[in-house]
Amino acid sequence: MNRRHFLLGTLAACATTRLVPPPPPAKKKVLILGGTGFIGPHIVRALVARGHTVTLFNRGKTHAELFPDLEKLHGDRDGHLEALQGRRWDTVVDPSGFVPRIVKMSAALLAPSVDHYLFVSSISVYKNVDAPNLDETAPLDTTDDPTSEDVKAHYGALKALCEQAAERALPGRVANIRPGLIIGPGDPTGRFTHWPWRLAQGGEVLAPGDGSTPVQYIDARDLAAWIVKLIENRTVGVFNALGPEQRITMKEVVDACNAAGGNQAQVTWVDAAFLEKQGVEGWSDMPLWVDTKGDMAGFGTMQNRRALTTGLTFRPVLDTARDILAWLATLPDDQRDKVASTGIKHDREEKVLAAWKARG
Ligand SMILES: NC(=O)c1ccc[n+]([C@@H]2O[C@H](COP(=O)([O-])OP(=O)(O)OC[C@H]3O[C@@H](n4cnc5c(N)ncnc54)[C@H](OP(=O)(O)O)[C@@H]3O)[C@@H](O)[C@H]2O)c1
Repeated sequence: MNRRHFLLGTLAACATTRLVPPPPPAKKKVLILGGTGFIGPHIVRALVARGHTVTLFNRGKTHAELFPDLEKLHGDRDGHLEALQGRRWDTVVDPSGFVPRIVKMSAALLAPSVDHYLFVSSISVYKNVDAPNLDETAPLDTTDDPTSEDVKAHYGALKALCEQAAERALPGRVANIRPGLIIGPGDPTGRFTHWPWRLAQGGEVLAPGDGSTPVQYIDARDLAAWIVKLIENRTVGVFNALGPEQRITMKEVVDACNAAGGNQAQVTWVDAAFLEKQGVEGWSDMPLWVDTKGDMAGFGTMQNRRALTTGLTFRPVLDTARDILAWLATLPDDQRDKVASTGIKHDREEKVLAAWKARG
């Protein structure tokens, strides 16, 4: 074989190698404890799209009309898990656990009959967010009374205890994932939806700070796609789940949301100290935004390296904002108002803007 033939042969071999697709992942049997609220349906759709078999377990109360073609088991996480007995799944996804006693119940029952337990926790598990670049090893929130089941008062501490309950029941077989603010179509909380919706209404829009505040979030569909990867690869460990990959500022997000609605709004950035004096609160009045100082100095900068190395990717926020507007357009007026009219009320926004201009 001369040199030319050798090179051509090598190139042909490389081309063939490149053309051979990787083997498809083994099809999994997945049980979802819940699955019909906000993130559940996105996870279900992502699993089904990849050819996995999904069973839902819930009380049959929330969006019971969803997924008529899937197996549905009914019961109650709090004491009525009979429908799960004697069954086998590869992975359990638990997006509906808030109380360690209840997570312990399902994790202990399923431990002998599943390989992998994926618990949806929260970045609220961290005790402090007062320093930047927090990673998964940061200290966790605690409560003086670990038997308390007051989820509103002890959300983060209870989520941390839920993670531990799952890990105790299935040592070395648990993925505890800690999302930040979950956004996208179907979000019932409106905590991000405010921005694309408000900006699409046009006029002058109040925006918080000088625009440079770092913010983080995760589109529920990106979360779902990554959860499918974790299931396919049987990945275990603890993961912050928020992004995007690179730091993004409030201004970049607001600009993208404005662009999604056709740049109808004129945005006026109002100094954080001025907003505080006016009683305008971050997160509630100004969704997504927190004034990153003092106790909250690390907000918007949490590390996501572990999640990125296991396959988490992020769509552009412009796409999320466009999809949210398209979803809102499908809702009846009263439902749309409920999920979109979060954040500062319009008349108060006008007053704050007027005061900002009159400040002298
Ligand atoms: N939204 C955010 O920004 C954010 C941020 C960080 C973390 N998280 C976490 O993400 C998760 C979001 O969950 P989701 O509500 O969207 O999940 P989901 O799985 O879509 O909806 C909740 C499901 O749980 C079922 N359920 C509720 N109580 C039940 C019970 N006692 N027994 C059996 N089933 C029950 C509901 O159905 P039935 O009512 O029919 O029973 C529903 O199917 C939560 O764990 C939350 O802590 C959220």
